[in-house]
Amino acid sequence: MPVWKVCGGKRLEGALDVQGSKNAVLPILAASLLSGGVTRLSNCPELLDVRASADILRHLGCGVMQNGGEILVDSSRMTENHIPHALMERMRSSVMYLGAILARCGEVRLSAPGGCELGARPIDLHLKALEEMGAEVRQSGGEVVCRAARLHGAHINLAFPSVGATENVMLAACAAEGETVLTNAAREPEIVDLAGYLNAAGAQVSGAGSAEVRIAGQMPGNAFTEYRVMADRIAACTFLCAAACAGGELRLGGVVPAHFATVTEALRELGCALLTGEDSVLIRADRPLHAGKPVVTRPYPGFPTDAQALLMSACLKARGTSVFVENIFENRYRHVPELRRLGAQIQVEGRVAMVTGVGSLSAAPVTATDLRGGAALILAALGAEGETHIADSGHIMRGYADLDAAMRSLGADISVAD
Ligand code: EPZ
Repeated sequence: MPVWKVCGGKRLEGALDVQGSKNAVLPILAASLLSGGVTRLSNCPELLDVRASADILRHLGCGVMQNGGEILVDSSRMTENHIPHALMERMRSSVMYLGAILARCGEVRLSAPGGCELGARPIDLHLKALEEMGAEVRQSGGEVVCRAARLHGAHINLAFPSVGATENVMLAACAAEGETVLTNAAREPEIVDLAGYLNAAGAQVSGAGSAEVRIAGQMPGNAFTEYRVMADRIAACTFLCAAACAGGELRLGGVVPAHFATVTEALRELGCALLTGEDSVLIRADRPLHAGKPVVTRPYPGFPTDAQALLMSACLKARGTSVFVENIFENRYRHVPELRRLGAQIQVEGRVAMVTGVGSLSAAPVTATDLRGGAALILAALGAEGETHIADSGHIMRGYADLDAAMRSLGADISVAD
């Protein structure tokens, strides 16, 4: 199991361009099935999850090549509409292949995505929406089977603005006969990026980023589609929170500051100085931090659940009491017991966590529990005395490209070894 070693106490200084977005490139890779031609993606992050998605595309009969930040997919030929358990279990967000394969092949069979570290992760909203578009859905033997001789447009209202369900509806609706109107849709920037790719590939999607998305249906194939993936807003938040934890001054480039305004605002309340430009953000964190307003996670444009653990690490030594309310996932405080091992004072009651700032943190062996929780441990270790060892069964590398090298380039004393 890889172990991250972090020697705390080093200020961070420097500049870097943030990686491409994991949560944008994954649905776009699934969407490339709809073009029936060649897709060239740029600004793709090199991640375990991206490799898992590429392997799924290859299993389905597509040609896939990745060279640095560029990925080429040829989806002109599909020989399979089934994703086996071995491929599904590598990445639960493969569920977005449901809509894409159904749209392309009229039938899809995949191993039901299990729960994960964050909770049960049901897909009821996905399946209900596909049924409303004319799909017959069956679940048996741990598999989900969807069939639709003909998908038709529908007016679908999501009970919750689920990111994944919104993406699956958008993908399936591209092939449906007639227009689909999706209300209470997720508004995350990654949804806008998916719509950007789909429209570049010949679809007609409007309203992405708002609560009402319209998809015209009967998308024609497209021989060649090029698209540049957006920057990873949560990776950007990770580096900003790292500066808050370790102290220092960072400039992040290639970002859209509006995509994480709730997080920069929370860091300002903690006492960090932040300046935002058109595609950059500068943070200066050299004064002692103090608790700010409660951090309440909500669907976009609210405070992102993926940044909850990251900001919590920045609050561990902030004077006073910091309050967190996690409204999106039922089990997203698994990093708390590990942070306590570093000396953090955190109480959790249901969805509410209360952090009492301490004077110092000290190194201890800890274990990454999930992707963002693991990143939060690295951030806390940057501000802890001594050398912290973080055992990680691969969570962190699922979502961050060369995080150790990026942090070293900013002055952190960090390494990771198998
Ligand atoms: C996406 O997950 C992201 N993953 C998550 O990022 C992110 O935390 C989440 O959106 C919320 O922003 C990817 O994009 C690959 P949801 P997703 O459907 O689509 C419940 C990371 O760290 N729900 O919006 O699975 C669900 O249980 C990951 O990069 C249902 O009840 O999120 C959860 O409580 C973690 N039924 C809530 O909705 C459904 O059918 C939000 O889930 C679907 C979801």
